[in-house]
Amino acid sequence: MKKIIITGGAGFIGSHVVRRFVNIYPGYHIVNLDKLTYAGNLANLKDIEDKPNYHFIKGDITDADFIDRLFATEQPDAIIHLAAESHVDRSISDPIEFVLTNVVGTVNLLNAARKYWDGAYDQRRFYHVSTDEVYGALGESGMFTEQTKYDPHSPYSASKASSDHFVRAYHDTYGLDVVISNCSNNYGSHHFPEKLIPLAINNIKNNKAVPVYGKGENVRDWLWVEDHARAIDVIFHEAAPGETYNIGGHNEWKNIDLIRLLCSIMDRKLGRADGESAKLITFVKDRAGHDLRYAIDATKLKRDLGWEPSLQFEEGLEKTVDWYLSNEEWLADVTSGHYQQYYKAQYTSR
Ligand code: NAD
Ligand code: DAU
Repeated sequence: MKKIIITGGAGFIGSHVVRRFVNIYPGYHIVNLDKLTYAGNLANLKDIEDKPNYHFIKGDITDADFIDRLFATEQPDAIIHLAAESHVDRSISDPIEFVLTNVVGTVNLLNAARKYWDGAYDQRRFYHVSTDEVYGALGESGMFTEQTKYDPHSPYSASKASSDHFVRAYHDTYGLDVVISNCSNNYGSHHFPEKLIPLAINNIKNNKAVPVYGKGENVRDWLWVEDHARAIDVIFHEAAPGETYNIGGHNEWKNIDLIRLLCSIMDRKLGRADGESAKLITFVKDRAGHDLRYAIDATKLKRDLGWEPSLQFEEGLEKTVDWYLSNEEWLADVTSGHYQQYYKAQYTSR
């Protein structure tokens, strides 16, 4: 049986990747390694937590000794590394956590992989999940390709860019079998409500102001999270060692247009008069260093590995809204902080 450690599996994207691998590959044993920061929530994985090919370990990737012990006891065949501090606004107010988890944590994992696999890299793989934000910002035209020069602007994207460089350096220097993917903005179920789409859904539902930074002119390229998990699956299994793939939805939206669409979906779902929710839109101070536009060219992934997004955005957004409206307990637990007390009491770090 192949053993895979998935880091950050209690977070938004990580939980979708864990669920997919546990359900689709009964021949794999999935170890979910997560610190359970504010962004980690084991309720995201309630449906698979009792499966025989899954277990959870609470731990911090910034602790090198712990990571060493983890590799010695678990003896993984592969790592899929998603654990990170992921919110740009938090990185602006407190950058150091981003350096520790995103850079030092990644290097701790690389060191352990190098030490325990000891040059025997056949059938062993280090998959690093990264972001399109490492490429910086686009103007009105153009797209990010795998050749675009790195030009990060926020402490978050600088920390992710740094971790990408370390991953490549371990391939070039030590021959570690690595793959990297850089994905655009994800949306879908279990998304923490500090990010634009779940925050807006929660605020509209509760008749609270929906904050739009600046004039809402910034553009993001949105991808359904389950399509990202499927791309990770394909790349993990089929990419050549050392490869990089961009993943994106071919789905660019100005923030203000996206929020207006969301407001009209919410009006319909909540039985409000058309235009009612849009009255909650409130323009607020812009994010410092706010990247104007992201757009991913995912041609290479389609050409080499046949991956394409499966969902149209309007359909995906409807599904997402439906999920939040029918999972009120999840949302209430997350916004009240109750989820942390519940799971923190159950698990202690190893
Ligand atoms: P998230 O914030 O929802 O989840 C991060 C997870 O990592 C949480 O479960 C948290 O508890 C865990 N974690 C944080 N610090 C840790 C540490 N020191 N040790 C162990 N676990 C720790 O993040 P997400 O949005 O699911 O993003 C996952 C990955 O995908 C990140 O690497 C992010 O950079 C990347 N990514 C995200 C997006 C997006 O749109 N959300 C897009 C492209 C790439
Ligand atoms: O591009 C991939 C990245 O997408 C990931 O690497 C990050 O982990 C993920 O958080 C996301 O970053 P963004 O900064 O693009 O996502 P966020 O949801 O924070 O913001 C989306 C856009 O909406 C951005 O232009 C800022 C704006 N915004 C955000 C919030 C939270 C608002 O206008 N109002 C808000 O309240």
